[in-house]
Amino acid sequence: MTKTPIFELDHTTRIENDREILKNVSLVFHPGEFVALLGPSGAGKTTILRLFNGLDSPSAGEIRYRGENILELPITELRRSVGMVFQTPAILAGTVRENLFIFQKWRKDFNATDEELVEHLLRVGLSADDLNREAKSLSGGEKQRLALARTLMNNPNVLLLDEPTSNLDPQLAQRILRRIKKVQEELGLTVIMVSHDHQLAAKFAQRFIILIDGEVVEDGDISVIENPQQPVVRSFLNGAED
Ligand SMILES: Nc1ncnc2c1ncn2[C@@H]1O[C@H](COP(=O)(O)OP(=O)(O)OP(=O)(O)O)[C@@H](O)[C@H]1O
Ligand SMILES: [Mg+2]
Repeated sequence: MTKTPIFELDHTTRIENDREILKNVSLVFHPGEFVALLGPSGAGKTTILRLFNGLDSPSAGEIRYRGENILELPITELRRSVGMVFQTPAILAGTVRENLFIFQKWRKDFNATDEELVEHLLRVGLSADDLNREAKSLSGGEKQRLALARTLMNNPNVLLLDEPTSNLDPQLAQRILRRIKKVQEELGLTVIMVSHDHQLAAKFAQRFIILIDGEVVEDGDISVIENPQQPVVRSFLNGAED
Protein backbone atom coordinates (compact mmCIF):
# COMPACT_ATOMS: atom_id res chain seq x y z
CA MET A 1 0.00 0.00 0.00
CA THR A 2 1.39 3.40 -0.89
CA LYS A 3 1.04 6.15 1.66
CA THR A 4 -0.77 9.35 0.72
CA PRO A 5 1.84 12.06 0.21
CA ILE A 6 1.94 14.65 2.97
CA PHE A 7 2.34 17.51 0.48
CA GLU A 8 2.04 17.76 -3.27
CA LEU A 9 2.79 20.68 -5.50
CA ASP A 10 0.95 19.89 -8.72
CA HIS A 11 2.05 22.12 -11.61
CA THR A 12 2.13 25.03 -9.22
CA THR A 13 2.90 28.54 -10.39
CA ARG A 14 3.05 31.65 -8.27
CA ILE A 15 3.02 35.05 -9.88
CA GLU A 16 3.99 38.27 -8.10
CA ASN A 17 3.87 41.59 -9.94
CA ASP A 18 3.54 39.85 -13.32
CA ARG A 19 6.66 37.78 -12.64
CA GLU A 20 6.65 34.01 -12.23
CA ILE A 21 8.50 33.41 -9.00
CA LEU A 22 7.53 29.72 -9.01
CA LYS A 23 7.27 28.12 -12.43
CA ASN A 24 5.02 25.11 -12.92
CA VAL A 25 6.63 23.16 -10.07
CA SER A 26 5.55 19.59 -9.30
CA LEU A 27 6.92 17.93 -6.18
CA VAL A 28 5.76 15.16 -3.88
CA PHE A 29 6.71 15.01 -0.19
CA HIS A 30 6.26 11.87 1.89
CA PRO A 31 5.38 11.60 5.59
CA GLY A 32 8.44 11.44 7.81
CA GLU A 33 10.92 12.83 5.29
CA PHE A 34 13.61 15.33 6.25
CA VAL A 35 14.06 17.44 3.14
CA ALA A 36 16.52 20.26 2.53
CA LEU A 37 15.35 22.96 0.15
CA LEU A 38 18.39 24.74 -1.25
CA GLY A 39 18.99 27.43 -3.84
CA PRO A 40 20.29 30.94 -4.36
CA SER A 41 18.68 34.00 -2.84
CA GLY A 42 15.42 34.80 -4.62
CA ALA A 43 15.00 31.26 -6.02
CA GLY A 44 11.54 30.82 -4.46
CA LYS A 45 12.34 28.75 -1.36
CA THR A 46 10.36 30.86 1.11
CA THR A 47 7.58 31.08 -1.46
CA ILE A 48 7.14 27.28 -1.32
CA LEU A 49 7.00 27.28 2.48
CA ARG A 50 4.47 30.13 2.47
CA LEU A 51 2.26 28.21 0.05
CA PHE A 52 2.40 25.12 2.29
CA ASN A 53 1.41 27.15 5.32
CA GLY A 54 -1.48 28.83 3.51
CA LEU A 55 0.10 32.30 3.67
CA ASP A 56 -0.06 32.57 -0.13
CA SER A 57 -2.09 30.66 -2.66
CA PRO A 58 -1.03 29.33 -6.05
CA SER A 59 -1.66 31.46 -9.14
CA ALA A 60 -2.04 28.23 -11.15
CA GLY A 61 -1.92 24.54 -10.30
CA GLU A 62 -2.85 22.89 -7.05
CA ILE A 63 -1.33 22.17 -3.65
CA ARG A 64 -2.55 19.15 -1.71
CA TYR A 65 -2.01 18.42 1.97
CA ARG A 66 -2.63 14.74 2.73
CA GLY A 67 -4.44 14.43 -0.55
CA GLU A 68 -6.74 17.41 -0.10
CA ASN A 69 -6.65 20.71 -1.92
CA ILE A 70 -5.12 23.11 0.56
CA LEU A 71 -7.63 25.84 -0.35
CA GLU A 72 -10.43 23.65 0.97
CA LEU A 73 -8.91 23.05 4.40
CA PRO A 74 -9.70 25.16 7.49
CA ILE A 75 -6.74 27.50 7.80
CA THR A 76 -6.36 27.30 11.61
CA GLU A 77 -6.27 23.51 11.46
CA LEU A 78 -3.74 23.62 8.61
CA ARG A 79 -1.48 26.02 10.51
CA ARG A 80 -1.61 23.93 13.68
CA SER A 81 -0.73 20.81 11.76
CA VAL A 82 1.85 22.50 9.54
CA GLY A 83 4.14 24.51 11.79
CA MET A 84 6.40 27.16 10.34
CA VAL A 85 9.41 28.91 11.77
CA PHE A 86 10.13 32.03 9.77
CA GLN A 87 13.46 33.50 8.67
CA THR A 88 12.74 36.41 10.99
CA PRO A 89 10.35 35.10 13.63
CA ALA A 90 7.50 37.21 14.92
CA ILE A 91 8.16 37.87 18.59
CA LEU A 92 5.45 39.82 20.36
CA ALA A 93 5.73 42.23 23.28
CA GLY A 94 5.56 40.40 26.59
CA THR A 95 7.48 37.63 28.28
CA VAL A 96 8.78 34.41 26.83
CA ARG A 97 5.96 32.64 28.67
CA GLU A 98 3.37 34.87 26.98
CA ASN A 99 4.95 34.25 23.60
CA LEU A 100 4.81 30.50 24.17
CA PHE A 101 1.08 30.74 24.76
CA ILE A 102 0.24 32.82 21.69
CA PHE A 103 -0.55 29.92 19.36
CA GLN A 104 -2.57 28.16 22.04
CA LYS A 105 -5.07 30.96 22.67
CA TRP A 106 -7.69 29.53 20.35
CA ARG A 107 -7.44 26.12 22.02
CA LYS A 108 -9.73 26.39 25.01
CA ASP A 109 -8.55 23.04 26.34
CA PHE A 110 -4.92 24.13 26.42
CA ASN A 111 -3.07 24.52 29.65
CA ALA A 112 0.54 23.96 30.56
CA THR A 113 2.41 24.01 33.83
CA ASP A 114 5.64 25.93 34.19
CA GLU A 115 7.41 22.60 34.27
CA GLU A 116 6.03 21.72 30.86
CA LEU A 117 6.90 25.14 29.46
CA VAL A 118 10.44 24.80 30.74
CA GLU A 119 10.68 21.39 29.10
CA HIS A 120 9.83 23.02 25.78
CA LEU A 121 12.48 25.68 26.35
CA LEU A 122 15.12 23.12 27.25
CA ARG A 123 14.38 21.21 24.06
CA VAL A 124 15.62 24.18 22.03
CA GLY A 125 18.52 25.10 24.28
CA LEU A 126 16.83 27.89 26.26
CA SER A 127 16.61 27.70 30.05
CA ALA A 128 14.10 27.96 32.89
CA ASP A 129 15.47 31.44 33.67
CA ASP A 130 14.29 32.63 30.25
CA LEU A 131 10.60 32.00 30.98
CA ASN A 132 9.98 35.40 32.57
CA ARG A 133 12.33 37.41 30.39
CA GLU A 134 10.99 40.04 28.02
CA ALA A 135 10.95 38.22 24.69
CA LYS A 136 12.01 41.35 22.79
CA SER A 137 15.23 41.44 24.78
CA LEU A 138 16.34 38.02 23.53
CA SER A 139 19.18 37.78 21.00
CA GLY A 140 18.40 36.88 17.37
CA GLY A 141 19.30 33.24 17.94
CA GLU A 142 17.29 33.06 21.16
CA LYS A 143 14.27 34.51 19.36
CA GLN A 144 14.64 31.84 16.67
CA ARG A 145 14.71 29.15 19.34
CA LEU A 146 11.69 30.60 21.11
CA ALA A 147 9.81 30.54 17.80
CA LEU A 148 10.83 26.92 17.31
CA ALA A 149 9.70 25.94 20.82
CA ARG A 150 6.37 27.70 20.25
CA THR A 151 5.83 25.85 16.99
CA LEU A 152 6.80 22.44 18.40
CA MET A 153 4.32 22.97 21.27
CA ASN A 154 1.53 22.56 18.72
CA ASN A 155 2.69 19.00 17.99
CA PRO A 156 2.71 19.65 14.26
CA ASN A 157 2.80 16.90 11.62
CA VAL A 158 5.01 19.00 9.40
CA LEU A 159 7.71 21.45 10.37
CA LEU A 160 8.62 24.11 7.82
CA LEU A 161 11.91 25.73 8.73
CA ASP A 162 13.16 28.83 6.93
CA GLU A 163 16.86 29.24 7.68
CA PRO A 164 16.29 28.01 11.24
CA THR A 165 19.92 28.25 12.27
CA SER A 166 21.09 31.40 10.51
CA ASN A 167 21.55 33.30 13.77
CA LEU A 168 23.08 30.43 15.72
CA ASP A 169 26.69 29.42 16.20
CA PRO A 170 27.58 26.13 14.48
CA GLN A 171 27.55 24.07 17.68
CA LEU A 172 24.15 25.29 18.77
CA ALA A 173 22.80 24.90 15.24
CA GLN A 174 23.82 21.23 15.26
CA ARG A 175 22.43 20.68 18.72
CA ILE A 176 19.03 22.05 17.75
CA LEU A 177 18.90 20.15 14.49
CA ARG A 178 19.79 16.94 16.35
CA ARG A 179 16.78 17.58 18.58
CA ILE A 180 14.54 18.25 15.60
CA LYS A 181 15.83 15.08 13.96
CA LYS A 182 15.02 13.13 17.12
CA VAL A 183 11.45 14.44 17.14
CA GLN A 184 11.23 13.72 13.43
CA GLU A 185 12.29 10.10 13.95
CA GLU A 186 10.23 9.50 17.08
CA LEU A 187 6.99 11.08 15.91
CA GLY A 188 7.29 10.63 12.17
CA LEU A 189 7.38 14.41 11.73
CA THR A 190 7.99 15.67 8.20
CA VAL A 191 10.64 18.39 8.09
CA ILE A 192 11.18 20.72 5.14
CA MET A 193 14.13 22.97 5.83
CA VAL A 194 15.40 25.88 3.78
CA SER A 195 19.08 26.41 4.42
CA HIS A 196 22.11 28.19 3.03
CA ASP A 197 24.37 25.91 5.04
CA HIS A 198 24.77 22.88 2.80
CA GLN A 199 27.15 21.05 5.09
CA LEU A 200 24.73 21.32 7.95
CA ALA A 201 21.81 20.27 5.74
CA ALA A 202 23.86 17.27 4.55
CA LYS A 203 24.16 16.04 8.13
CA PHE A 204 20.42 15.94 8.74
CA ALA A 205 18.41 15.76 5.54
CA GLN A 206 17.78 12.64 3.46
CA ARG A 207 16.59 14.42 0.37
CA PHE A 208 17.93 17.55 -1.31
CA ILE A 209 15.96 19.75 -3.65
CA ILE A 210 17.69 22.54 -5.51
CA LEU A 211 15.58 25.39 -6.72
CA ILE A 212 16.95 27.98 -9.12
CA ASP A 213 14.92 30.85 -10.53
CA GLY A 214 11.57 29.33 -9.56
CA GLU A 215 12.32 25.88 -10.98
CA VAL A 216 13.43 22.58 -9.48
CA VAL A 217 16.77 21.69 -11.03
CA GLU A 218 17.71 18.76 -8.79
CA ASP A 219 15.85 16.44 -6.45
CA GLY A 220 17.55 13.43 -4.91
CA ASP A 221 19.79 12.00 -2.20
CA ILE A 222 23.08 13.34 -0.87
CA SER A 223 24.73 12.87 -4.28
CA VAL A 224 22.83 15.98 -5.41
CA ILE A 225 25.21 18.09 -3.35
CA GLU A 226 28.22 15.77 -3.10
CA ASN A 227 28.44 15.01 -6.77
CA PRO A 228 26.47 17.66 -8.67
CA GLN A 229 26.03 16.86 -12.36
CA GLN A 230 24.73 20.10 -13.78
CA PRO A 231 27.06 23.08 -14.23
CA VAL A 232 24.39 25.45 -12.89
CA VAL A 233 24.14 23.42 -9.65
CA ARG A 234 27.93 23.08 -9.37
CA SER A 235 28.42 26.79 -9.66
CA PHE A 236 25.66 27.50 -7.13
CA LEU A 237 27.11 25.03 -4.62
CA ASN A 238 30.70 26.21 -5.11
CA GLY A 239 29.75 29.85 -4.89
CA ALA A 240 27.72 29.28 -1.76
CA GLU A 241 30.67 27.60 -0.06
CA ASP A 242 32.90 30.69 -0.33
N1 LIG B 1 5.26 39.75 -2.09
C1 LIG B 1 6.13 39.79 -3.09
N2 LIG B 1 6.04 40.73 -4.07
C2 LIG B 1 6.91 40.76 -5.09
N3 LIG B 1 7.92 39.89 -5.26
C3 LIG B 1 8.06 38.94 -4.33
C4 LIG B 1 7.18 38.83 -3.20
N4 LIG B 1 7.56 37.78 -2.45
C5 LIG B 1 8.65 37.27 -3.07
N5 LIG B 1 8.95 37.95 -4.19
C6 LIG B 1 10.05 37.68 -5.12
O1 LIG B 1 10.00 36.31 -5.46
C7 LIG B 1 11.29 35.76 -5.58
C8 LIG B 1 11.39 34.54 -4.66
O2 LIG B 1 11.33 34.97 -3.31
P1 LIG B 1 11.58 34.02 -2.09
O3 LIG B 1 11.38 34.83 -0.87
O4 LIG B 1 10.77 32.80 -2.26
O5 LIG B 1 13.12 33.66 -2.30
P2 LIG B 1 14.09 32.77 -1.41
O6 LIG B 1 14.56 31.63 -2.27
O7 LIG B 1 13.44 32.43 -0.12
O8 LIG B 1 15.33 33.76 -1.18
P3 LIG B 1 16.24 34.04 0.14
O9 LIG B 1 17.25 32.92 0.16
O10 LIG B 1 16.88 35.35 -0.16
O11 LIG B 1 15.36 34.06 1.34
C9 LIG B 1 12.26 36.89 -5.22
O12 LIG B 1 12.75 37.42 -6.41
C10 LIG B 1 11.39 37.88 -4.48
O13 LIG B 1 11.86 39.18 -4.68
MG1 LIG C 1 13.77 33.06 1.83
